Amino acid sequence: MISVEDFVKRYAVDRHNTDSVKWDGMDELFGTNDLLPLWVADTEFKVPEEVTDALKRRIEHGVYGYSKTPDSYYKIYCKWQSERYGTEIQHEWIRFSTGVVQSLSTLVNILTQPDDAVMILQPVYYPFMKVIKQNDRRLITSDLKQNGTSYEMDLEDIKNKIEKNHVKLFINCSPHNPVGRVWNRDELEALLELCRQEKVLFISDEIHHDLIVGKKTFVSALSIKDGFYRDNTVMVDSASKTFNLAALQNSHVVMPNPQVRERYDHYMERLAAPAGSIIGKIAAEAAYASGAEWLDGLLNVVRSNYEYLKENLHKYCPEAIVYDLEGTYLAWVDLSAVIEPEHLEYVIEKKAHLAVDFGAMFGKAGKGFIRVNLATTPANIKAATTALIEQIQY
Ligand SMILES: Cc1ncc(COP(=O)(O)O)c(C=O)c1O
Repeated sequence: MISVEDFVKRYAVDRHNTDSVKWDGMDELFGTNDLLPLWVADTEFKVPEEVTDALKRRIEHGVYGYSKTPDSYYKIYCKWQSERYGTEIQHEWIRFSTGVVQSLSTLVNILTQPDDAVMILQPVYYPFMKVIKQNDRRLITSDLKQNGTSYEMDLEDIKNKIEKNHVKLFINCSPHNPVGRVWNRDELEALLELCRQEKVLFISDEIHHDLIVGKKTFVSALSIKDGFYRDNTVMVDSASKTFNLAALQNSHVVMPNPQVRERYDHYMERLAAPAGSIIGKIAAEAAYASGAEWLDGLLNVVRSNYEYLKENLHKYCPEAIVYDLEGTYLAWVDLSAVIEPEHLEYVIEKKAHLAVDFGAMFGKAGKGFIRVNLATTPANIKAATTALIEQIQY
């Protein structure tokens, strides 16, 4: 297994002047490009060599005419899902899109009507709120319940709100960004069963499913009770978060239900919408075929960065709480006891010189928190931790 030091030496790269949103586009949000960026959820690491080689072969061929998705792509994606997670996916269930958020927006349009109620758990990745509101659907939220330094779903509240608001669609984040939960089989089954009984369609955003940091095993909504809830479920994911491929615009929409697929195909035909990119597919196929060891290396870096942040904040500033991280490479940190939530942005940006996502962006329950991207070098995490401690120790 590749060590943290070797992984960083081999893959970490300076991303300045590459039109990176995180590094070169910071000024749009933060007014400067001089902060240490730990915000956008991509990584500072080059892709596995096999991915670069596959892309080079295609680039050297030099022709980018109309292309189809090769059978080998479906095979390798289904194999990855089956062997690593026991998720059985059939070739004909899969469609492609340019990104998971685009898929969410498309699915909201296909599966609901204007003014229908769509439910999410908060705090959550903010585009969930956006795709619901911007498509003129009613946003219904249920707050995750805090349980020590973790969170759980409030099933009773979810049930009451589904019934009261006649919810038509539920969008779940699994694993959950930003709170870092990898949902247990029992929790997912209870939620899926509730949605089935209440006739609520279910979208499972599983883009973070390869980023399992703790000891839990990831379980897809598609495999709960041997696939019992498949007909009611659409799963969306991508190799982009795992292997740092977001700009190559290739993601999956997995629809076991043939009627849902028919509606999806009809809608996409009407839009004449693009279905991913061949460059993105070449990269993802090579990553699924050869990237397992690289992924283990990345996860070790994330674990080590998480431990460093947690231990040091605990030691020097125990009132700053780093929440449990079961999945994703995003740490969820409660600073409300050490920085007045009203002053949080000022202290983090102007004093600690960090660019992070502020918790309030993920819903009101996130006020006073920050989300820290750990998929970076240990040196960056050390610098960020030191800068934070300097600001909050006294
Ligand atoms: C839960 C979740 N879904 C989707 C995305 C973005 O996916 P895409 O870039 O494919 O739209 C992210 C990125 O952080 C995410 O955390």
